Amino acid sequence: MAQEPWWKKAVIYQIYPRSFMDSNGDGIGDLRGVIEKLDYLSWLGVDAIWLSPVYKSPNDDNGYDISDYTNIMDEFGTMEDMDELIVKAEEKGIHIIMDMVFNHTSDEHQWFVESRKSKDNPYRDYYIWRDPVDGHEPNELGSVFSGSAWEFDEETGQYFLHFYSKRQPDLNWENENVRKGMADVVKFWLDRGVYGFRLDVIEMLGKVPDEMIGANGPKLHDYIKELYEDGFNSTGKGEEIVTIGECWSADIDIASKYTNPENKELSMVFQFEHSSLDEVPGKGKWELAPLKLQALKDVFEKWQIRYDKGWNALFWDNHDLPRIVSRFGNDKEYRVESAKMLALLLHGMKGTPFIFQGEEIGMTNVAFDTIDKYKDIEIINMYNEKINQGISHEKIMESIYAKGRDNARTPMQWDNSNNAGFTTGTPWIDVNTNFSSINVKKDIEETNSVLHFYRNLIRIRKNDVCIQKGNYQSMMKDDEDVFAYTRTFEDMKILVVCNFHNCTKDININMDTKEVLISNYDNEKIDLRNLKLRPYEAIMCRI
Ligand code: GLC
Ligand code: CA
Repeated sequence: MAQEPWWKKAVIYQIYPRSFMDSNGDGIGDLRGVIEKLDYLSWLGVDAIWLSPVYKSPNDDNGYDISDYTNIMDEFGTMEDMDELIVKAEEKGIHIIMDMVFNHTSDEHQWFVESRKSKDNPYRDYYIWRDPVDGHEPNELGSVFSGSAWEFDEETGQYFLHFYSKRQPDLNWENENVRKGMADVVKFWLDRGVYGFRLDVIEMLGKVPDEMIGANGPKLHDYIKELYEDGFNSTGKGEEIVTIGECWSADIDIASKYTNPENKELSMVFQFEHSSLDEVPGKGKWELAPLKLQALKDVFEKWQIRYDKGWNALFWDNHDLPRIVSRFGNDKEYRVESAKMLALLLHGMKGTPFIFQGEEIGMTNVAFDTIDKYKDIEIINMYNEKINQGISHEKIMESIYAKGRDNARTPMQWDNSNNAGFTTGTPWIDVNTNFSSINVKKDIEETNSVLHFYRNLIRIRKNDVCIQKGNYQSMMKDDEDVFAYTRTFEDMKILVVCNFHNCTKDININMDTKEVLISNYDNEKIDLRNLKLRPYEAIMCRI
């Protein structure tokens, strides 16, 4: 049997560079800041870094609007810094995974600058242009960032498509030159020594706007297969390169198409089923609904057991999502306990865990009182749209506090000095005011901290084949407070029990424990037949 790829045993750490570490006092995180913190990441024990976009960009969507895929954003540093980061990370056994935005570019990308010049420009067809219909937008397609997905361009009297901001025109993947251009971008970065790619909204590449199709268009998988051949596998080492597609609409069947090894497309997908359970179904992310634990258990069980044509990407947080401890945990009196519980619940499962910067110290959501403190284009557009619809400031802020993307984007809290040690200047977005009690320095000093818990979890997983490969089985499925499961590999068995709520629970599991591997309370010995779970208590043991 072929050797398992490295990424199946890996834990991957996501860095949002703008908010990670500022090395030169301009208030913006940068590549030298990442280099400075490599020792920390190596101490934590992660195997790879997924770096959110660092390419040239006017930053309409914080780098997800790329104007040059093979150059570094001025604010972040230089290509020399990037090369140094790749080399220094590799020296510590940490691979770099680049974030690739292939669905759209910035409107400042040379292709678009040309494209919008005239209808017969050779680059016209790199993007999607349509005539007005009765003096209006070609159809009703909407942008994820509010308003129409079509923008009128005076210059040539046509509309162009943008599923995201107006400054992120959608590429036309029907055009072979676009596909070849992007495969070249992949090759460029492989040559520089990176080990993988996170593929931004990859599900949109096969769009057919005239038929109102965005995600999962008919040619999507042909394009990805081609990208695999001409890009990821261009050096013949496709299996060593990890690729993770961001797929908001993926269910198991959809995900399997990308990840079935026979199809030669992607290594993993990020699917969001577990991450949309606190929304009113069909109403989008801003309409809040309480989370039902049973629903969460069902979703995880389904992906753990029925997803047999793929490997799970396990995550709670990323730069688009609110902080998990504030969302599914308790960021007040049980912040530490609940952050650890959520970590254990996820890291005990089968798949590759991803940690988003700050999650490992239990960073929380933020609540700025005025809208001008927010920087995210999605938040700002949504706010303006809803104010125009007559919805009150208070009501809108409530959903921003719960779901806004800037929750994840406040600066990393390194210590309790000014600006949490993130910058000596003025940070581009305010630091969360709780930094003096929640920061890396403090968590390193306190062995009972969330940080040490994550570090231990990573170590335990690395040395345990049962956690890496074991089969998942649910337990106590109907319980409204306890999330429990086992993992079994050959004659090894591991049990994970988590009290998901702020309550005490007496439970009885008819099993003998051999060893407690990790827990968020003092638990050297436990009796599973007579277990009194405290608020957010979580235990992983060998049985
Ligand atoms: C993805 C990114 C998000 C970005 C969007 C458009 O969802 O994660 O941050 O705004 O794509 O590129
Ligand atoms: Ca800087």
